[in-house]
Amino acid sequence: MNKPDTNIELDKIEINEDIVRYIGKLADDLGYRVYIVGGYVRDYYLKRQREDFDFTVIGDSIAFAEKIAELNRTKAVVYTAFRTALVPLRGYKLEFVGTRKEEYLPDSRKPIVSEGTLEDDLKRRDFTINAMAVSLNKDTFGEVTDIFDGKSALEDKILKTPLEPEITFSDDPLRMLRAVRFASQLGFNIDESAFLAIRAMSGRISIVSRERIADEFFKIMKSAKPGSGFRILYETGLLEYVFPELAKLSGIETVQDIDRNYAHKDVLLHSLQVLDCISESTDNVWLRIAALVHDIAKPQTKRFIKGSGWSYHGHEEFGARKLKHIFNQMKFSKEHLPYIEKLVRMHHRPMALVDEGVTDSAVRRLASQAGDALEDLFMLCRADITTKNPNLSAKYLNNYDIVTQKVIEVQEKDKLREFQSPVRGDEIMQICKLPPSQTVGYIKTTIEEAILDGIIPNEYDAAKQYFMENKDTWLLEFKGSKKAKKQ
Ligand code: CTP
Repeated sequence: MNKPDTNIELDKIEINEDIVRYIGKLADDLGYRVYIVGGYVRDYYLKRQREDFDFTVIGDSIAFAEKIAELNRTKAVVYTAFRTALVPLRGYKLEFVGTRKEEYLPDSRKPIVSEGTLEDDLKRRDFTINAMAVSLNKDTFGEVTDIFDGKSALEDKILKTPLEPEITFSDDPLRMLRAVRFASQLGFNIDESAFLAIRAMSGRISIVSRERIADEFFKIMKSAKPGSGFRILYETGLLEYVFPELAKLSGIETVQDIDRNYAHKDVLLHSLQVLDCISESTDNVWLRIAALVHDIAKPQTKRFIKGSGWSYHGHEEFGARKLKHIFNQMKFSKEHLPYIEKLVRMHHRPMALVDEGVTDSAVRRLASQAGDALEDLFMLCRADITTKNPNLSAKYLNNYDIVTQKVIEVQEKDKLREFQSPVRGDEIMQICKLPPSQTVGYIKTTIEEAILDGIIPNEYDAAKQYFMENKDTWLLEFKGSKKAKKQ
């Protein structure tokens, strides 16, 4: 436990946001002592921008929030059970909570809740980095109350609970997941005693709603190295509850065959590597999710083939079909389901197009089936290369360059095929004094072929000149070919 240190010098911070200064002024006018707490103070030191502000009010926080709402002709949303109120103001979310104290009588597990001091409030918060408060009243404006030395924890990049971790996590088991989220988002470590407590209590997360879990899941996914968050989820045992299908990917099986032992790779670790790799090139959280789940059906499709090794035949299709269930389980919005299904289903397709003999139509089919997701599919395929052998990795990446080039070439050809001769039918009819006829079509096609063959550029002047120079020959040719057909 981190004992309150009453001797630390008070830090003073500069508060520049008009909205926060305004709340301080109202606190003085209305006779309340008000502090800005939690994420604001943490992010002030970390120099991170934020749009929601949490205030602690000594006394009746709800009356204070309602007064602010009334003065600004808006409405406070009040959560009486938690003694909190939310006031949306000037595009910001302002949350007010009253300081409270919880006391347990020896024969009851139900706490007696009463008004408490600022210290009572701060010690019931999740982490010491989130348990700092800054006064907003004029006489002490900007003074930081940091009883648990959250500032040092920020400098040391460590997540510690203000009370014994078991107490802090029992108060709200979601905090175990918040620990992982902050570790991933801020690149912090979880203090050992808190880590051990999470490992011992991980099952308690199951009482938390799926929506609150999903919120934290997305925050982990959006962090610079989301894989690090998932590794902690796995190590603490939280992953089994947070994302059961993903937890099933962990583990290595070894089979003894004729000549040697065959061990497959740990699919969870591989997936997290792919996730971190793709996250270096994209902020698209759904593409990141596709990377996380691209091999989700490997456990169900895994087979050992004697003399050959491990096979996961059909895991792409099977994985795509599992996603609906996963989306339901995780309470994800279905809007992006088809996109992720497509990426999972197709993530081995580009690899099959490396061979020289691949036809244009196979390439065209890949591009048309991937549609708008084609670029993302290639990004996923590249991230999926996790071999430690640099020569192999370079070879595989080069293979994808080859396929990408093939796609570009086919698309270029298709674009050309759609084009028309710059010298149009009307002009041909007028100059050659022809009625609408097959002859006009023949001349147009001949000009188009010359452009496709690179004899002339795809430009009007060049095509017109070429047409004028050759039209008489073409007219004779066409007449000749018709005569020949008749005979
Ligand atoms: N808090 C807590 N336990 C929770 C959630 C929140 O103790 N389960 C406290 C923390 O002091 C936190 C503050 O309430 O700083 C505000 O919570 P919230 O807005 O959810 O998180 P932030 O810390 O502000 O961080 P972020 O905005 O990144 O979610």
